[in-house]
Amino acid sequence: MMKAAVLGATGSVGQIFVQLLSGHPWFEVSVVAASERSTGLKYSEAAKWRIPTPIPKNVSDLDVVDIEPKAVKNTEDVDVVFSALPAEVAGKVEESFAEAGYVVVSNASSHRMDPDVPLMNPEVNCNHVCLIDEQRRRRKWSGAIVTNPNCSATVLTLSLKPIHDEFGIERIIVSTMQAISGAGYPGVASLDIVDNVIPFIRNEEEKMQNETLKVFGSPSKPAEFKVSASCHRVPTLDGHMEAVFVEPKREADPESVVAAMEKFVGEPQKLGLPTAPAKPVVVRREEDRPQTRLDRMEGGGMSVVVGRVRKDLTLMGVKYVVLGHNTIRGAAGCGILNAEYLKAKKYL
Ligand SMILES: NC(=O)c1ccc[n+]([C@@H]2O[C@H](COP(=O)([O-])OP(=O)(O)OC[C@H]3O[C@@H](n4cnc5c(N)ncnc54)[C@H](OP(=O)(O)O)[C@@H]3O)[C@@H](O)[C@H]2O)c1
Repeated sequence: MMKAAVLGATGSVGQIFVQLLSGHPWFEVSVVAASERSTGLKYSEAAKWRIPTPIPKNVSDLDVVDIEPKAVKNTEDVDVVFSALPAEVAGKVEESFAEAGYVVVSNASSHRMDPDVPLMNPEVNCNHVCLIDEQRRRRKWSGAIVTNPNCSATVLTLSLKPIHDEFGIERIIVSTMQAISGAGYPGVASLDIVDNVIPFIRNEEEKMQNETLKVFGSPSKPAEFKVSASCHRVPTLDGHMEAVFVEPKREADPESVVAAMEKFVGEPQKLGLPTAPAKPVVVRREEDRPQTRLDRMEGGGMSVVVGRVRKDLTLMGVKYVVLGHNTIRGAAGCGILNAEYLKAKKYL
């Protein structure tokens, strides 16, 4: 077993890391780190556990340590570091871990757009892993930072991948309905979100647009199609839904788009990685699916669910609805799948 540290282990995404890594065949959590509010406490005392299954036994009694390489090293010799830190603190901290020789798999936005840092949604662009070699050369460190996209960009790019491969993309318009848990804990105040929709999420539209182009580009150059995003917070707990409108490069009717999505598998499926869902893109044919409550756990929360694929006469292409679990596929699950891919390719 490889030993893992989770930075930001007490937060919304950190808890999902702890839960998904419990019983994982390759990685086990042996260090948990968080802010000074939590250090010195047992994990079970520090984490306000909000997952309906109990805290995994092997993690419950761990002492929470500082988010510093020294504090982690003094606790356990770990092989991989998962970061679920807020962007404001992640930047420097992740660099210090990479400099100390650790491979950091991060959910934070701090390094996503660095030209030498892979921004990987594994079924879509795991070929970007080669940026690690350039990163190590440039920054003269033996560790590395690998990031996964923002939750809504992860859901979007996975659903677009079969269309991109078969028909090319000229432009996309996307409108999101994003769950409350996307804002972390305690997130949006209940008095703001109950019985309400908030048509603004700071920096989210820019992230969706820029990250989508980086993911679909070559490792050294972003893609050149056009993306326009409008992002909205809605009163669901987990699961981001997105209405997507695509103008493909080559003519694509709804049936051929559905066929491309249904047959799509990526490298993680071909390699048989433990967290890879059998079907990364699941298509529902009912007129009223996907639905957040019914479909967000498809593929253990690692698949995205597409429905209502139909002609779009404005962009002369197709439009559809996609749903993905924001803290699983859109965060910790995607990070774990990236780590599995790094191990399969001997970067870990
Ligand atoms: N939620 C999502 O759906 C989602 C999806 C994709 C990516 N992300 C990204 O994942 C990261 C974590 O998000 P989250 O939703 O889990 O946030 P969160 O619930 O607010 O958790 C933040 C975690 O970071 C720790 N932390 C906060 N300030 C710190 C500091 N100054 N020093 C050390 N540790 C500190 C907290 O520790 P304490 O408990 O000790 O305060 C907690 O463990 C963010 O970068 C976010 O943008 C989130």
